[in-house]
Amino acid sequence: MAFENILTEKDGGIAVITINRPTKLNALNRATIVELNEAFKAFDIDREVRTIIVTGMGEKAFVAGADIAEFADFNVEEGQKLAALGQELLFDLVQNLSTPVIAAVNGFALGGGLELAMAAHFRIASDNAKMGLPEVSLGVIPGYGGTQRLPQLVGKGRAMEMIMTAGMIGAEEAKAYGLVNHVVPQSELIDFCKGIASKIMKNSPVAISKAIKAINANYEDGVNGYNVEVTEFGNAFGTEDFKEGTTAFLQKRKAEFKGK
Ligand code: COA
Repeated sequence: MAFENILTEKDGGIAVITINRPTKLNALNRATIVELNEAFKAFDIDREVRTIIVTGMGEKAFVAGADIAEFADFNVEEGQKLAALGQELLFDLVQNLSTPVIAAVNGFALGGGLELAMAAHFRIASDNAKMGLPEVSLGVIPGYGGTQRLPQLVGKGRAMEMIMTAGMIGAEEAKAYGLVNHVVPQSELIDFCKGIASKIMKNSPVAISKAIKAINANYEDGVNGYNVEVTEFGNAFGTEDFKEGTTAFLQKRKAEFKGK
């Protein structure tokens, strides 16, 4: 895949998407969002890919937000369209992807950057990472799901404080908040994420995609997550992976999942 604003690579079942606009601290302009949409979709249907890691180029930033220069003169309608389209093309797509997505937060994750990390299935931070939703300092509010996903992850009070103050928190504080799962030295970040991906890859991709769907159901309005769990649990019994997993266990051997 050839892109202008992102780099993609695939190795041994792990795909890495690197947002590559370091001179703009990897800010998300429209073109980058469209490319990310294409890359995530392509890796999701690639049967070789078992986990996707998303990160930012350089040592300074994961993503320093939506590209402020691009929307500075937008009107009300354009603002609404920007948020709606971005949520559809990237943030909802990532959250609902069948393939696990890990955000490797390698520096500033601000505004749309933190929103992208929060849309990922979980987050690992480098020790220099700084996270925040500074939109109210620009006279706007988070528009890529930040007002919804931040309270889900850190609780309402902390989300209120972070959003109202427009402040940044460091990696250790983010870990204490439950916003990131682990904090590692920057030089070890991608290998650490790949280590987790290797553990994920030992398990059934079909079961994992069903688990993602059931977990996400907990956060969908009007959807009973317990019912989704019952349905997906039942559906799993109809998969080849289930037959393989249970047979391998009973035969005391390692399961070879095909993802079917
Ligand atoms: N949109 C567009 N450009 C951005 C950007 C963004 N969100 N964040 C950084 N950049 C650009 C800067 O304009 C600058 O470009 P230039 O060299 O052409 O002037 C370049 O990236 C480097 O950023 P700079 O501000 O010089 O780096 P810094 O180390 O002084 O500060 C930050 C780093 C992250 C604190 C600062 O860039 C910042 O506050 N960015 C905006 C964060 C934000 O509000 N995001 C939410 C957007 S809704």
